[in-house]
Order: sequence, then structure tokens, then C-alpha cells
Amino acid sequence: MDRAWTYHVRARSHREETSLRSAFSPRRYLMCPPTYFKVTYSINPWMDPSKPVDLPLALAQWEDLRDRYRALGHTVEVLAPRPDLPDMVFAANGATVVDGRVLGARFAHPERTAEAAVHREWFRSHGWTEVQDPVHINEGEGDFAVTDSWLLAGRGFRSSPLSHPEAQEFFGRPVIGLDLVDPRYYHLDTALCVLGGEDVMYYPAAFSPGSRAVLERLFPDAVIARERDAASFGLNAVSDGHHVLLPQAALGLFEPLRERGYEPIGMDLSELLKGGGSVKCCTMELRSA
Ligand code: ARG
Repeated sequence: MDRAWTYHVRARSHREETSLRSAFSPRRYLMCPPTYFKVTYSINPWMDPSKPVDLPLALAQWEDLRDRYRALGHTVEVLAPRPDLPDMVFAANGATVVDGRVLGARFAHPERTAEAAVHREWFRSHGWTEVQDPVHINEGEGDFAVTDSWLLAGRGFRSSPLSHPEAQEFFGRPVIGLDLVDPRYYHLDTALCVLGGEDVMYYPAAFSPGSRAVLERLFPDAVIARERDAASFGLNAVSDGHHVLLPQAALGLFEPLRERGYEPIGMDLSELLKGGGSVKCCTMELRSA
């Protein structure tokens, strides 16, 4: 490499260099309103069926998120909720969509099993032609995250390790398997968020030592979340390459995001947190070819 050029690149400030990486692009999302949201069973440590849910508030918070996406220039498609499926509001779990190809979900818990077919049906009736029924358990974007180079894939609580080679084969993208070890962070999207390109933020303690070492190697400049912000679901965020929508309680993440050239936007999804989800769980990204 030319020496002068190397020097020039190194001399650029961190802020300049990283803001080059974060570029806004309009996205297409699939969301499902919490019309029938309730907490009647407990399949993650956040769900306490004895705690009441304020349904009108849950709906208002969800509408806020939907409207915010639209105001930012994104398209939001809406999936019709089903009365017998109270967790359907967590639309991110219903499939994984990359390059216009849809890998359906297969849920770990019987309470959510029927959601997978509702999602696949939506895709098939909306013109998506490459829709695959999975063989192995995978909870969609709950456990799969897409960077420019990799498909990051969580395992340990929900998605089967066998779903990783299945996704690699289907999408033709290299999968990096990551072991989740803390039941509070049972899906990858509760512990890690892709901000854009190869830029991520994550909470190291949610991962096994080996997976932590993999993350450090792949993403040496990552934003590292502290426990308080991770426990506020701060990593359950959605980035369009510039705006990062995240729970407003995750205050410690705002400044590091700004320093890297992102614009954090705090959202209040307190009612949905009672189901163990927040911004990202409510949002599936429809990535076209
Ligand atoms: N109650 C749901 C479950 O335990 C919450 C899912 C949250 N979704 C997510 N993408 N992390 O399955």
C-alpha cells in the first residue's frame, strides 16, 4: 500500500472514518400490531403473566414506532394479527429475508408455532417467490443478523445450531455462529445490533468467551454496551444506516452512537418489554435482491 495514503487514512479521525461507513438508505419493514398482545405464558425471563399489560398503551407505543419509520422515509407493511397468537407483535421472529429470499421460521415453543405459517402465507401472497420452509428450528431475525459480509447467527436458547448451515446454504452468505449464555438475552437481537456495513454494537457478557473473542476479532471498533443499557433492551434497536431507533431508557448508548455519526432516536415500548421485546423484535426487515 502506498505509504502516504496509509498515513492519510490513519490520520483521519475515528468520527470521520466511521461516519463514512454509516449511510442512510430507505428500508422496507414488516410489522404486526399488538391488537391481541398479552402475557399469558412465560417463555423468557421478562414475561411475568401476573403483571398486567396496558393494551391501549401498547398499541399507541407500537403506532409511534410505525409512524416514526414512515416519517423517516421507510415503507412499513402490516401483517394482520391473530387473536390466538399474542406474541405476533414480535414480527422479527417470523422469517429472515435477505436478497429477496425468505427463510421461514420454526419456533422453539409450541405457543408460537402457528406464527410461522402465517408469515410464510403473507410472503407467498405478496409476490415473494423464494420462500423456504425450514427444516431446523430458527426464530428468524431474532437470531439472524445481517452485516455486509456475514450472517451472524445466535444459538443457545432458541434457534438450533443446525439452522446455521441451513441458512448459509439458502442465502449463500457465510454464517458466524455465536453462543448466547444468559437467558435474559435469549435471542441474538437482544444482545447485538448491526448499525450498518460492518458496524455493530453488542453486550459481551451475553456471549460465551469464544464467541466474545470472535466478535472482538470481526468488529474491533464495535460499540460495547454496558449491562444497564443491555438490560433496558438498548441493543434491540433498528438502524437504517443513519438513524438508530432504540429504547429511550438505554441512555448510555446515545453518545457513543452520536460519536460514530449515527442519530439515535429514543422510543418508548415499555408495554412490549413485558413480553421480552422492543424496537427490533417488532420489526422485520424486508431486504430485496
Ligand atoms: N415473547 C416473545 C418470545 O419469547 C418475545 C420475542 C422477542 N423477539 C425478538 N426478536 N427478540 O418469543
